[in-house]
Amino acid sequence: TRSIKIAPSILSADFANFGAEIQAIEDQGCDWVHVDVMDGHFVPNLTFGPPLCAAIRPHIKTVMDVHLMIAPVDPYIDAFAQAGADVLTAHLEAGPHTHRTLQAIRGAGCKAGLALNPGTGLDGVENLLDMIDLVCVMTVNPGFGGQKFIHSQIDKVKRLRAMIGDRPIHIEIDGGITPETAPLMAAAGADVLVAGSAVFKGGSVDNPGVYGENIRSI
Ligand code: DX5
Ligand code: ZN
Repeated sequence: TRSIKIAPSILSADFANFGAEIQAIEDQGCDWVHVDVMDGHFVPNLTFGPPLCAAIRPHIKTVMDVHLMIAPVDPYIDAFAQAGADVLTAHLEAGPHTHRTLQAIRGAGCKAGLALNPGTGLDGVENLLDMIDLVCVMTVNPGFGGQKFIHSQIDKVKRLRAMIGDRPIHIEIDGGITPETAPLMAAAGADVLVAGSAVFKGGSVDNPGVYGENIRSI
């Protein structure tokens, strides 16, 4: 059996306290730190840019996993790479030239991730398998934390796992992960689970043990 990594999304953290929040979740045993970048165009919400990523980078001892919900992607790749992204994930739906985008991400020295909206099938992934280190399967429509898990994605993840075979590609699940939905995704073949509300709910930097309990419950 494969070991499951937990990647808390700081979209659900206290925005006035990112340094302390990151230290708390890492002390409590998270594996990666997931950063949701939104542009108010590709998704109907606005969050962070490269300066925020650069500011939190020194606080991250694990992996900075940057999820770009932006279009276009290419003009910003170097800025996010310089801000210290370890994994840089772009959406298949963000433009017609995903192959070029993935090439540029690897060229900038990052691991390349490819994210799929819930309505997107796997056809567009097959010809990109040599270009990617991670596929992020969205189990909500991107834009907001705290949404309900879309169960129809389970079968997609199973088919993706079969398509990947023994290639060293992570399958990351993003959206609506809870202690109830996490085992479904692990069984379907996922190995990285993003969780925002499920990790941060009930805790704080003054009461970080709750984050640890939440992480272990997923
Ligand atoms: C959604 C983001 C997710 C989200 C996860 O657009 O990409 O990372 O914050 O939040 P939860 O776990 O609360 O669904
Ligand atoms: Zn995300």
